[in-house]
Amino acid sequence: MAKIRPYGDDDFAACTGLWQRCGLVTWYNDPSRDIALWRQSSCAEIFLAEDAGAVVGSLCCGHDGHRGWLYYVAVDPDRQRSGLGTRLVRHAEDWLHRQGILKVQLMVREQNRRIIGFYAALGYAVTPRAVMARWLELPSPPPEGVELAPDLALAAGREAKLRFTITYLEMTARPAIQPVHPPASLKFALLRAEHPTVAFYRYLYNAVGGDWRWWYRRQMSDAELAGILADDRIEVFVLYVDGAPAGYFELDRRAASTIDLAYFGLMPHCVGRGLGRYLLYAAIEQAWSYAPGRLTVNTNTMDHPRALPLYQKMGFTPYRQEEQQIIDPELTGIIPV
Ligand SMILES: CC(C)(COP(=O)(O)OP(=O)(O)OC[C@H]1O[C@@H](n2cnc3c(N)ncnc32)[C@H](O)[C@@H]1OP(=O)(O)O)[C@@H](O)C(=O)NCCC(=O)NCCS
Repeated sequence: MAKIRPYGDDDFAACTGLWQRCGLVTWYNDPSRDIALWRQSSCAEIFLAEDAGAVVGSLCCGHDGHRGWLYYVAVDPDRQRSGLGTRLVRHAEDWLHRQGILKVQLMVREQNRRIIGFYAALGYAVTPRAVMARWLELPSPPPEGVELAPDLALAAGREAKLRFTITYLEMTARPAIQPVHPPASLKFALLRAEHPTVAFYRYLYNAVGGDWRWWYRRQMSDAELAGILADDRIEVFVLYVDGAPAGYFELDRRAASTIDLAYFGLMPHCVGRGLGRYLLYAAIEQAWSYAPGRLTVNTNTMDHPRALPLYQKMGFTPYRQEEQQIIDPELTGIIPV
């Protein structure tokens, strides 16, 4: 049976070799630096599992004076599912408990979520906290072409604020446009979703706005959104193609004589199939059926680049532009990455 012992001076190659085999080494963590810091600290320990002279398991643990943390929990791929991971975790927990620590935490990388089952089997549970991170220094520049998580992207120079221009457009009379029909080959339907559920609405909003950083309604609570959707003067029309949602538009009739086309768009799989003009035409027709004094819409520079020319072609005229900036919703977690 493998024996668990503290890390020693000659263990570097065997320990980091194990981490490589277990897929735990990334460009943004430098194992030699990590190990040196752990060994200097009186609040941290590195434990190794050794069997017949070979390092077959590892765990780094430590506490920050409040919580205990586990890192580099690894068992050699040939030895997994034989209880060694459990023994290492329990060993570290005992050590932390003896230091006066009452709660142990760890982070699992997004790509490694399947491992959560291991910790759950040991009595850990996913806890609802937003973990926020800021790099004081990157150990090395990011490799070319790698998609960076928001904290790494920020450290590599990404702006925390998004700046964009909003163009407000209006039409003050029903436009003289020819009726637009969807391509004849498509099986489609346009149906009003009367008081849609929040879940269905969020699905539409996120699917249509996902590529364009639609964030405003994402940050609303369910109760807030339900209140809006319960209003008869909010009209959500869903376009279905081949029986499944393909896009939607939303008219806001809450103002006295102005109707706002609050949201309009297609889902990514339906862009480029000749449906955008049809859906906009249908929205304009629906709005003018109430004979308002004015129909408005706005678009910003993060939206699809063809949105603005399409609105103009269909009879809207720009009347105002405004610069705005927001904290990037990917950094605040409003838009998940
Ligand atoms: C995570 C790891 C350390 C687990 O070590 P292990 O020695 O295989 O774990 P154990 O044998 O003690 O497993 C105990 C229980 O956890 C659960 N479990 C273990 N691995 C699991 C997995 N991949 N998915 C779901 N449940 C798992 C099982 O219930 C298991 O009991 P069982 O074998 O009787 O069914 C090991 O898989 C590993 O090194 N993975 C690669 C590195 C890694 O991802 N580390 C975690 C970084 S956060």
